[in-house]
Amino acid sequence: MTIVGAGNVGATCAEVLARRDYCDVVLVDIKEGLPQGKALDINQMGPILGYEANILGTNGYDETAGSDVVVITAGLPRQPGMSRDDLVTTNEKIVGSVTEQAVAKSPDAVVIVVSNPLDAMCHVAKTASGFPKQRVFGQAGILDTARFRTFIAWETRSSIKDVHALVLGGHGDQMVPVVSATTVGGVPLTKLVAQNRIRQMVERTAKGGGEVVELLGTSAWYAPAAATAQMVDAVVLDEKRVLPCTAYLEGEYGIEELYMGVPVKLGAGGVEEIVQVDLTDDERAALDASAAAVRDVVRLLGS
Ligand code: LAC
Repeated sequence: MTIVGAGNVGATCAEVLARRDYCDVVLVDIKEGLPQGKALDINQMGPILGYEANILGTNGYDETAGSDVVVITAGLPRQPGMSRDDLVTTNEKIVGSVTEQAVAKSPDAVVIVVSNPLDAMCHVAKTASGFPKQRVFGQAGILDTARFRTFIAWETRSSIKDVHALVLGGHGDQMVPVVSATTVGGVPLTKLVAQNRIRQMVERTAKGGGEVVELLGTSAWYAPAAATAQMVDAVVLDEKRVLPCTAYLEGEYGIEELYMGVPVKLGAGGVEEIVQVDLTDDERAALDASAAAVRDVVRLLGS
């Protein structure tokens, strides 16, 4: 598989996948020395942790040929005071260009987009690749859901393993944590935690990326990279996982021709099904508002 962008998210994704030990990874970046150096370091962790996956760093695309999966992390990350949407013009050019170059070498690949603003960058990658919608989708929902699950586990003093949740919508501050679909050990969250505390956790989740940016001065990478690797697992291992991902909607959830976060079934074919869950009236309205916010950013795209 190929990862484009050897920054924090791309390199950490390569590291997580190396530890999984089921595929070789080509790490591409325009910055000379960066992908080569990170690949060398990750390879040299193999003897210690006991994996045999090979990571190759390069500044070109020849070595990426025939990849099953291409992950796009290239582009500028957020800085303090920036929203994800502030990156749209710069990252549109970068994501469009790297997608064209990558798919030229791997015409049968599944493309997973991670660059921000995520929903809009999925549109860019779909146009640049010319691939069917099933093979172009984005990572956001697993990350956003993981943030929500973390806060719920802390609040209820439960194992993170028993917290099931779902965050839908665009990867922006208007994302929609679906409280009605959230349970701890099968018990609805609303039976365990007071409404005002739930509201605070929903708010913290929606602003979760920004909280890390304020602390670090740049975007998060550990959880985003792990979330991306989980999607790669589902595709390469044909797992048929049902995971929240950014998929192209054509009428599902009443939304037309827009990339948005929804639960999908992920397997070797990419997005094999869009799973429809029942929403409360409030959640439905919040999803529509999130779609409107995504459309505002998509409208800024040049193509
Ligand atoms: C975040 C960035 C990666 O949510 O979008 O942390």
